[in-house]
Amino acid sequence: MKPAQALQPCSFVIFGATGNLSSNKLLPALYHLEVKKRIQENMSFIAFSRREWGQEEWLAHMKLSLQSKLGERFDDAVFERFAARFCYVQGELHDPEAYRRLLEVLSRPKCGVCSNVVFYLAIKPTEFGAVINNLDAVGLNKPRGLHRVVVEKPFGEDIESARMLNELLHRHFDEEQVFRIDHYLGKETVQNLLVFRFANTLIEPLWNRNFIDHVQITVAEEVGIEKRADYYDKAGALRDMLQNHLMQLLTVVAMEPPPAMEADALRDEKVKVLRSIRPIAKRAINAHAFRAQYAAGTINGEPVVGYQQEEGVEKNSATETFVAAKFYIDNWRWRGVPFYLRTGKRMPKQMSMIAIRFRHPPQQLFRETSVETIEPNWVILSIQPSESMHMEIHAKQPGLGMETRVIQMNASYRKAHEAPLDAYEALLLDVIEGDRTLFIRFDEVEWSWRVVDPILKYWEQEREFIHTYPAGTWGLHDADRLFDSEDQEWRNEL
Ligand SMILES: NC(=O)c1ccc[n+]([C@@H]2O[C@H](COP(=O)([O-])OP(=O)(O)OC[C@H]3O[C@@H](n4cnc5c(N)ncnc54)[C@H](OP(=O)(O)O)[C@@H]3O)[C@@H](O)[C@H]2O)c1
Repeated sequence: MKPAQALQPCSFVIFGATGNLSSNKLLPALYHLEVKKRIQENMSFIAFSRREWGQEEWLAHMKLSLQSKLGERFDDAVFERFAARFCYVQGELHDPEAYRRLLEVLSRPKCGVCSNVVFYLAIKPTEFGAVINNLDAVGLNKPRGLHRVVVEKPFGEDIESARMLNELLHRHFDEEQVFRIDHYLGKETVQNLLVFRFANTLIEPLWNRNFIDHVQITVAEEVGIEKRADYYDKAGALRDMLQNHLMQLLTVVAMEPPPAMEADALRDEKVKVLRSIRPIAKRAINAHAFRAQYAAGTINGEPVVGYQQEEGVEKNSATETFVAAKFYIDNWRWRGVPFYLRTGKRMPKQMSMIAIRFRHPPQQLFRETSVETIEPNWVILSIQPSESMHMEIHAKQPGLGMETRVIQMNASYRKAHEAPLDAYEALLLDVIEGDRTLFIRFDEVEWSWRVVDPILKYWEQEREFIHTYPAGTWGLHDADRLFDSEDQEWRNEL
């Protein structure tokens, strides 16, 4: 059952409405929800931005932005419906007067339904404090149950700043009002992993150290830093991707079945996984984590510049654009099974997948094959670009001899007539309806930082040098040294 606020009309305020996240993710996702008629009749949106614009200029900007993002999928009639929900509020994030204007707009019949408001912080984390304090100053943090604030990743830059940010939020909002978003949890495959594991008796008995050899989680991006040097050069791949998206994927693979599919029951189990990750001692970091930066190279046959040549990147920056790391989960189910995580920019293709390799069978029974060379079974969950599941198993080769070959069983989750759902669409709908199941609790964030923080601190001391990899390749070769045995290697294809 959805919480009470699902039944109430909602006003949705976007701070940073002209920014990258807003143009590329939020506005297209909300527009798609409008197309699908999933937005309540009397719901309104408020675009908060510092540009000296009026309503008409905002709408013209939003139209252009959506047209360029959606191409032929843009529809004038839908846009008209969507645009009619918007009010524009001009203001500086640090100016208390701007929040009084916001309050006034929120009490107008068209723009506001003051009892149920979402504040989406699509702004730099350094600006969160100003917004949170100012919302409190005009009383917009209340009523406690109904007004909520959405915070994007990364939550803090390390464990200390994450705690400080959390304290700040909790000074002005209750935990129930804070929605920490990690859009990977909104992806169909990730949610389907829960169904795959906990709705099939076939799978769960095999999902442990007795049968699984290792787990690989890869999030590869073809793109570079796309004019976001200002943010990325200070963040790097460890903070930007591994601490949040990849760690969340790891918890969903490794968690125990929750007692119920409820927000806190699910999050309790995820936290237990994070708490069980073996800390990496300082002296072992070089054997457990590798970093590198892309140099000039070729993507899809086109030359691309190296990270150092990207606009806005600091001279001699040692920020990593690739990271690979190995973790062990010291609990009954997973002890001894390595989890290999890697992510990088400017890799040969965009690909996110979880690949689970099973152990070899204990005995070789078939002629013409040897146990050393027989391929192990794999289960692969593809998150991007396709949302699908693949299973590799052995079957007899047709013919007289008794030889085996690997066959792939491929299943796409989606039937031909089912439209894909963007992760942001699903999560924004959850925010509007007040469903916190797929949002992150602070103890998850904190435990995840505890795992990553020693690596971060160690690398921060070594800012003089970083290995490079040519753009368009799978990152640093040395990262292969992570593997526990010689027959393990990165899986780059489905
Ligand atoms: N971009 C992504 O794909 C992405 C993905 C995941 C998470 N995030 C997170 O989302 C948040 C926003 O990122 P972003 O990439 O969208 O940043 P961005 O492109 O720099 O946008 C920041 C927005 O804040 C506005 N702004 C900045 N200072 C302001 C001030 N003093 N007063 C009023 N408005 C101000 C900017 O207005 P102007 O347009 O006037 O400058 C702009 O609309 C960050 O927390 C980031 O970590 C982003």
